[in-house]
Amino acid sequence: MIQWLHNRYDLYSGDKEEREELDNLRTEVQVLENKYNLKKGIESDISTVEEIRIEELHQKQIEERKTHRPNNVKKEYSPKVIPKTEEQINLIKEKCIQNYLFNSLGDKELKTVIDSFEEKKFSSGQNVITQGEEGDALYLVDNGELDCEKINNKGEEPIYLKTYKTGDSFGELALLYNVQRAATIKANTDVLCWRLDKECFNNVIRDAAIQRRVLYENILKKVEILQNLDPYELGPICDAIKTQNFMKGDFIIKQGEIGDTFYILDEGNAHAERYFESSNTTKKVKDYESGGYFGELALINDESRAASIIADTDCKCLSLDKIAFQKFLEPLVDIFLEKSKDYITE
Ligand code: CMP
Ligand code: CMP
Repeated sequence: MIQWLHNRYDLYSGDKEEREELDNLRTEVQVLENKYNLKKGIESDISTVEEIRIEELHQKQIEERKTHRPNNVKKEYSPKVIPKTEEQINLIKEKCIQNYLFNSLGDKELKTVIDSFEEKKFSSGQNVITQGEEGDALYLVDNGELDCEKINNKGEEPIYLKTYKTGDSFGELALLYNVQRAATIKANTDVLCWRLDKECFNNVIRDAAIQRRVLYENILKKVEILQNLDPYELGPICDAIKTQNFMKGDFIIKQGEIGDTFYILDEGNAHAERYFESSNTTKKVKDYESGGYFGELALINDESRAASIIADTDCKCLSLDKIAFQKFLEPLVDIFLEKSKDYITE
């Protein structure tokens, strides 16, 4: 019996290692792909030196794997503790709750992050991050406003991308993918930010964020309407995604209810049905398969749900709450409304 258990254990652990190795490889491929896309976005003329640098990095990672040193083993990390008042701690906590990169951290991780945050003040007009520089920190906005701009091709004028406000964070890309800063962030007003050093980010946040982004980005890329977004915008959306499972026959959405969630169908099939008062009938109005989305209308129009969505099989959905939907998918509202003109109305 003992021998049998030993054999089983060896077999199982072998499988597990293989699975972990496969997962690591998948993540690595995706990270390199993201890195490559970012590079393409930053500089249209990637120099040969940089191509060699990416190649060298890739080789280094292959060598590391050959020696069976897993990528996610961390060196001894002794977090910084920058003293703060109770009031500052509560203010930071409040901002972290509003931020999807931080709001899923456990209590211990959150404490480490809060201890490591350093107060930084910037005057209106000052650059907090400059495109092309090395990245050493991520910033969380306490108060004030900052503009994000990007130069797509050398010699061209910067293009305005977005404004960061209280509770927003920026500067994660250089840390996640170990690349140069992909954009410039300039203070629009006097600004107070909390600066999180690269070491803390890498030890506490990076792995989970990369895994989430790799997993969900692959699914989001299948959603036609999201292809209208700058590929960079998918990353922050992934931070905000939650998954929800439904069983065959479940109502994912009920017509007439108040809606505060937007859904993307990842696995399974579902359909929409709508009750029409004029004819006192309920009709099936749409079928959904993987990559389909629903639940946008109530969030855009601030109205109750216009139809019911019912699971035809067991379903797995990705969901975004109303705040995330408004924050990240606002640039798509016109396209959502245009597409909703195809919905059956009677
Ligand atoms: P990082 O590249 O470290 O520094 C610049 C930051 O700008 C980047 O991380 C993101 O946090 C932010 N940013 C916002 N929009 C974009 C965009 N479209 N492309 C690149 N960076 C962006
Ligand atoms: P919402 O009203 O938030 O919730 C129900 C969803 O059903 C709706 O958003 C649309 O995404 C989807 N839907 C599909 N077909 C229709 C239709 N004919 N009329 C209204 N909503 C529809």
